[in-house]
Amino acid sequence: MHLSAIFLASFLQGSAHAHTFIWGVFVNGVDQGTFKGIRIPAYNGAPGGGGYNNSPVKNLTSIDMRCNVMGDIQAPDTIKVAPGDNLTFDWHHDYRNLTDDIIADSHHGPSLIYLSPDPPTENSFVKIWHEGLYQEGLPAGKWSTTSNMRAKNGRMNMRIPAGLKAGKYLIRAEMIGLHEGEVSFLKNPIRGAQFYPDCVQVEVVGDGDVELPKGVSFPGAYSYEDPGVVYDVYCSKEQATRTYKCTTTYPIPGPTVWSGAWAETTSVPTSGIVGPTTATPWSTWIKNSVVTSATFTDKKSITVLGTSTYKAKWSATYQTPTPATKRW
Ligand SMILES: *[C@@H]1O[C@H](CO)[C@@H](O)[C@H](O)[C@H]1NC(C)=O
Ligand SMILES: *[C@@H]1O[C@H](CO)[C@@H](O)[C@H](O)[C@H]1NC(C)=O
Ligand SMILES: *[C@@H]1O[C@H](CO)[C@@H](O)[C@H](O)[C@H]1NC(C)=O
Repeated sequence: MHLSAIFLASFLQGSAHAHTFIWGVFVNGVDQGTFKGIRIPAYNGAPGGGGYNNSPVKNLTSIDMRCNVMGDIQAPDTIKVAPGDNLTFDWHHDYRNLTDDIIADSHHGPSLIYLSPDPPTENSFVKIWHEGLYQEGLPAGKWSTTSNMRAKNGRMNMRIPAGLKAGKYLIRAEMIGLHEGEVSFLKNPIRGAQFYPDCVQVEVVGDGDVELPKGVSFPGAYSYEDPGVVYDVYCSKEQATRTYKCTTTYPIPGPTVWSGAWAETTSVPTSGIVGPTTATPWSTWIKNSVVTSATFTDKKSITVLGTSTYKAKWSATYQTPTPATKRW
C-alpha cells in the first residue's frame, strides 16, 4: 500500500499516550467535526512500555517544527472561514471530553498561533497571537499552557484577520512545554523545550484585500539561543545551588504579533461536539524515517502489516487534498 494511503487509513486511530494536539475546530461556536481539517501529528515513537506517542518536537532545525511529524500530509478536508470569524481550537491529550487533562500539568509554557498561505514558503508564517507567563509565583508561576489552556478545557481562540484576502491558508497553532527547557536540546538531547505545533487547513472566502506581511519560517523561527526557548520555569523557586542569574520576565519566542491581527480574541459560546470523543488504539508509527503499520490488540499482540520509508515532501504549489474514504 502506498504510504499516504496507509497513513490516511490509520492516522485517526490515536493513542492513549499521545501528548496534546487539536481534536476539533469550532467556527463561530459551531464544531466542524472531530479531526476535520486538522493535520493530526503522526506518532513518532515505537510501541511498547507506553513509549509510543506523538512525542514533542525538540529539534529546532527539523521540518517537523512546521506542522509536527508528517505535517506535510494533508487532511482530507479544509474548513471554510471568513474574515472576522471566531475560531476555537479544541486541544486534547487522551479524550475529547471533560475528563481529559489537555496537557500534563508540568508542561509550563506559552501558546502561539501563526497564519501562512498554504503551502508555506520562506518567511510565510505570520504570528497572530501569543500568550506566555501571565503571573509570577511559586513554584513556576502561571503559564498559558498549564493554567489557561487547561482551565479552559483546551479551548484556544483565534480570529480570522479583518479583510484577509481569500485563499487557502494553514493555521499553525502551538503549545510549548518548558519544563525541561533550562538547557537546550542541542546541549542535552534528553532535555530541551518541547514543541507541540499542529496545523489546520482553512479556506478564507470573501472579497478581502489584506495580504499577509512577510513572516518567519518553520523551521527557522526559533533558535537554541532564544531566551524564550532556553528558559528555567522554576527559576522563581529558591535554589541555593543555582549558579546562573534568573530572569523574571519571559520573552515569548518568535516575532511580535502582526499589527493586522485582532488585538483581542474572545471565547464564543460553543455548540456540542460533532464526532467521536475517543480515538481507537494506534496502528501507525514513525521512527528514524520508517513508518510501520500494524494491528494492535494489546502491547503483547502487535502484528506488523508493512513498513515504508518517509521523507517530508512539501509542495511549492497548492495541492487539492485527496478525500478520505473512511474518517471514523
Ligand atoms: C535535527 O534535524 C536536522 C534536520 O533534519 C538533522 O540534520 C539533525 O540530525 C537533527 N538533530 C538531531 C540531534 O536529531
Ligand atoms: C467574533 O467575536 C467578536 C467578539 O465577541 C464579535 O463581536 C464578532 O461579531 C464575532 N464574529 C462573528 C463572525 O460572529
Ligand atoms: C471521557 O472519555 C473517557 C474514555 O472513553 C471516559 O473514560 C470518560 O468517562 C469520559 N468523560 C466524560 C466526562 O464523558
